[in-house]
Amino acid sequence: MMKRTSLPIAMICLALLSGCSEPTNDATGAQDRGASDAASAVPERTDAPRAEFRIPPEDFEVIPARGADLFAAHCASCHGTGALGSDQGPPLIHRIYEPSHHSDLAFYRAVALGVHQHHWEFGAMPPVAGVSGEDAAHIIAWIRREQRAAGIE
Ligand code: HEC
Repeated sequence: MMKRTSLPIAMICLALLSGCSEPTNDATGAQDRGASDAASAVPERTDAPRAEFRIPPEDFEVIPARGADLFAAHCASCHGTGALGSDQGPPLIHRIYEPSHHSDLAFYRAVALGVHQHHWEFGAMPPVAGVSGEDAAHIIAWIRREQRAAGIE
């Protein structure tokens, strides 16, 4: 049995090193454990790659409507109105971004650290400045709600 804290650390390292080209590498299961567990585990590993992103505590109250506004301001230029895609970036209301393939952790990482081009032909996503961990949590709550409404869970 692994200690309770070692699994999230392993998943973060895996996620950082491998991106998410394989569905199974994408920190699957992080949401079962609570993404905030994974975040609080990061500083314990001093030799781990430094990931400057913050995930709010589990009891942080997310407001999807606030996420919708933040998305419109910071993400829609590439991901399109309603996260339905544009000629600059992919739709996020799409099966490949369902929670089991792109966990919430993948969203926090994308916003804070950027994304290499790997699923599409739009190029890389740069880190999005000025969007805090709390902002990202609101955005994720809104995206998950829209995904569920589109039958993507
Ligand atoms: C400058 C354009 C641009 C902006 C702005 C942008 N993105 Fe992206 N994003 C992309 C592109 C392009 C990809 C696809 C990369 C690939 O897989 O090829 C992407 C991928 C993603 C992914 C998938 C990550 C993964 O692990 O595959 C998430 C999640 C995401 N974006 C969320 C966001 C959120 C949330 C915002 C706003 C805070 C945002 N993006 C702003 C261009 C952008």
